Amino acid sequence: MKITKLSQKLIDQIAAGEIVERPASVVKELLENSIDARADKISVKVFEGGSRLVIVSDNGSGIQKDDLALAIENHATSKISTQEDLQNCNSHGFRGEALAAIASVANIKIRSKVRHSENGFELIKTSGDWDIFLSPVHNGTDIIVEDLFHNVPARKRFLKNNTTEFKHCHSIFTQLSLVYPEIEFSLFHQGREVLHLRKSSGLGRFAEIFELKAEQVKVSTKQFEDLKINLFMSTNQEANKKIAPFVFVNNRPIKNSTVSYAIKNAFKNRVHELHKPYLLLFITTPNHCINFNVHPNKKEVHFKNNNAIYKAVYSVICELLSSNDPSERRNKLLFTNSKLRPSHETEIKRGVDLDSLKENYLLPKLEQVFANPSLLGGTNQNSAKFDLGYPIGQLNDTYILAQNTNGLLIVDTHAAHERILLEDLKNNNNQLCSQKLAIPECIDFEEENLKLFENRLEVINQYGFQVKIVGETTLLIEGVPEILSGKKYTVALHDIVKGIVHLDSTSSIAETVDEILGNIACKAAIKANHKLNIMEIEYILRKIESTTNGGICNHGRPTWVELSMKSLDKLFYRGR
Ligand SMILES: Nc1ncnc2c1ncn2[C@@H]1O[C@H](COP(=O)(O)OP(=O)(O)O)[C@@H](O)[C@H]1O
Ligand SMILES: [Mg+2]
Repeated sequence: MKITKLSQKLIDQIAAGEIVERPASVVKELLENSIDARADKISVKVFEGGSRLVIVSDNGSGIQKDDLALAIENHATSKISTQEDLQNCNSHGFRGEALAAIASVANIKIRSKVRHSENGFELIKTSGDWDIFLSPVHNGTDIIVEDLFHNVPARKRFLKNNTTEFKHCHSIFTQLSLVYPEIEFSLFHQGREVLHLRKSSGLGRFAEIFELKAEQVKVSTKQFEDLKINLFMSTNQEANKKIAPFVFVNNRPIKNSTVSYAIKNAFKNRVHELHKPYLLLFITTPNHCINFNVHPNKKEVHFKNNNAIYKAVYSVICELLSSNDPSERRNKLLFTNSKLRPSHETEIKRGVDLDSLKENYLLPKLEQVFANPSLLGGTNQNSAKFDLGYPIGQLNDTYILAQNTNGLLIVDTHAAHERILLEDLKNNNNQLCSQKLAIPECIDFEEENLKLFENRLEVINQYGFQVKIVGETTLLIEGVPEILSGKKYTVALHDIVKGIVHLDSTSSIAETVDEILGNIACKAAIKANHKLNIMEIEYILRKIESTTNGGICNHGRPTWVELSMKSLDKLFYRGR
């Protein structure tokens, strides 16, 4: 085949393909330009998913008449001019390619007026040539993009239906609006206003976008060496939709596998798959620590120090999740309404000793407690402050029922005990002394898994196991952590191996330890259908209140829920 040079028009269209994939890319580029122009009010009007028409209007700096034609030239920008500018550039745009790209695959018009100028002007193509006319415009810029891909049918065919394309526009709009709460944004589809966001704070905007109350949002700001992390997160009981975390580096939405891993691993064992919190993460770092210039749409970023990024993101999320404890919201409750309120002046033992529970206490039966609450040991006014309240009893040997002034508390015994054990184990390795098995036991694994597991054997054995690999598929267990004796330790080992195999090769020892302790706690914890005596119930209640991450089990399920008096009243149509 003969080689021919591509025409400039074709070159432009191919290059445009990298920037303009679909209508949402137009929305993104235009919004970013308005933000770069320091607008504080921006509206986006989309018709037919954006393939028919996108209009972005702003009250920003405007474009001078003489610059109008340049704006749509390729590699023409007002944002940088030197190498240093490139290094220090904080604007969204700097490559000067977006408007040119859009112009090569759609019909574009620009109307603009700079604040100090008397007149506004319009740049428009008439019979193949660009012309500039006087035009009555407000201060700022309107950019009108019509008939996207009208001249590239192959690309047009790849567009999805209007609803889907609009969803993409909506998502880009949301993303940028989260970064700039100080800007008022509105979004229209087919002439109807879909979203109107007034100026707000970071927290306010986050709450508005995700339809949360302010108290359902947790915020953390942390400075590491040359890295600042700013995190907004919904308390994880509120979020239930599968919405991916929003991540920004120096205010640009990005994709980066290190950050994704850090988030994924921080969520692991702390939040439930179905209840991932909404998360908004801002990473701010000097430009010399990153490279954005990797792709024309600037979605990807390379960090110079991935390890520092991983650690910072992971630790900030973990910390915020640990504080994500619903019990925090009520810490001083008085049992003024409690019928079970004990009458005399001794104190309920706080934090009953686990060992003491192994002994056989002669405890009052529940029926007796109901008849005579003082049998519990009584309490003084202070003990009435317990968040999770006063034990009522156990439901079908599975849930603990308790009451406080707010209402009824239901505690999942296994989930709660699992979390208590896990945090105890983390704080106190002594409990992991090993107990030799009278008769060593063998378990079989898939050869591949056991191989991957081999280099973590040493860590496992530091935590009370005495295991070694004998043969290609067999693990010999000679001893187990004491708290697993009599429990399903072989299942625990299977789960530990499975968990470790799934850890990625870059995972730290700490993550391996988390995996080991998590499984030990799970297997050692009280199972459902286990009758508890009142001391044990009291122990679980008091202990879970003061345990880190006490509101969620190691698999992210809630350990307890509260049915407020209000919601109970509703159930019975009280006061209606
Ligand atoms: N909404 C706007 N307000 C003011 N100036 C704008 C606007 N949109 C585009 N411009 C100007 O047009 C130039 C080219 O825009 P663009 O092609 O997106 O490149 P870049 O944003 O990379 O500079 C910008 O550098 C800017 O000077
Ligand atoms: Mg731009």
